[in-house]
Amino acid sequence: MSGSLLVDNIGELVTNGAGEGPLGIRRNAAVLVEEGRVVWVGPSAYAPAADHHVDAGGAAVLPGFVDSHAHLVFAGDRAAEFAARMAGQPYTGGGIRTTVGATRAATDEELRATVRRLRGEALRQGTTTMEIKSGYGLTVADEARSLRIAAETSTETTFLGAHVVPAEYADRPDDYVGLVCGPMLAAAAPYAKWIDVFCERGAFDVDHARAILACGRAAGLGVRLHANQLGPGPGVQLGVELDAASVDHCTHLSDADVAALADTAHSDGSGTRTVATLLPGAEFSTRSPYPDARRLLDAGVTVALATDCNPGSSYTSSMPFCVALAVREMRMTPAEAVWAATAGGARALRRDDIGVLTPGARADLVVLDAPSYLHLAYRPGVPLIRQVIRNGVPQ
Ligand code: NIG
Ligand code: FE
Repeated sequence: MSGSLLVDNIGELVTNGAGEGPLGIRRNAAVLVEEGRVVWVGPSAYAPAADHHVDAGGAAVLPGFVDSHAHLVFAGDRAAEFAARMAGQPYTGGGIRTTVGATRAATDEELRATVRRLRGEALRQGTTTMEIKSGYGLTVADEARSLRIAAETSTETTFLGAHVVPAEYADRPDDYVGLVCGPMLAAAAPYAKWIDVFCERGAFDVDHARAILACGRAAGLGVRLHANQLGPGPGVQLGVELDAASVDHCTHLSDADVAALADTAHSDGSGTRTVATLLPGAEFSTRSPYPDARRLLDAGVTVALATDCNPGSSYTSSMPFCVALAVREMRMTPAEAVWAATAGGARALRRDDIGVLTPGARADLVVLDAPSYLHLAYRPGVPLIRQVIRNGVPQ
């Protein structure tokens, strides 16, 4: 779309910048967009003229959701595993190998179709930025093609060759770590921005995780980490040690873990350098206790919310669902949850051009079918996303 775009008659605008409260709310507002960027925010009554026009009709508008944790490149589903869990089986992460088998057997076109389908699903639910991980290939060729396909859809791509040790390396995990750090990383790095490790009992221990993340960082990738999902462990503190942008899950934290995260606080009071990304879809779908967001927030830790969309532990692409869960189950206020799903996700990706609606930001906006962001938690399960504008373009 060429020319400027004015979104006006916004009853409640969440800017995550200057304005009322922690969400920087402005009432009766308008946003002017040019060349994919926000260029002006102000009172609707004083809005400049533009080439194109969206009338929000008094509804709420917020930044597009930033889903900083998703696994979209896979084949098959694990509905039967979900049903078994709901009948009492515990989740151990072992089902990852089932998806690895199906993913290796899939064609590029099948994988691409799944990524597009899930990315489209998320977009219709207001997600304008979505990180995509590999991690269901676990061979040099299958990890490289997973990331090549992910990179067709997102610039936020993550190499997760260290998801689990694949069956063929079960009795020689050191050799698999050597493969991940050597030829697999070399093949994946051209398509990846980040490196991630599942640091958990049954996946990778802290020494292997440290070695793999250090190799990734030396290859120019940013560090993120799955940690403390299934039980307590050293993952979160390893993430802090390696200046990870985010440690994800954080379901089982000690006081020392929370303190280590809090110690990464920026001196200007803008939050922590390492973000705790909470993934309540995983606790929902594995019927596990939720992480305690309140404890992190009260310690000053920056919190993000993401879907963890994957066929095993959290097969949802819905950020509104995660916001509602976070409010109901994790002791977050609606404002904290909406911030975490927008600006928090941006922090977890070390981005300052998304998750906010202030001049200079990317023009990623969501118009709700509701008068307030509060409705995202107040009306769970209801399709409240009326319109999505991505990069200045109505979708
Ligand atoms: O984030 N924790 C590891 N990875 C995924 C689960 C993947 C699966 O079960 O297939 C997660 O929950
Ligand atoms: Fe995950």
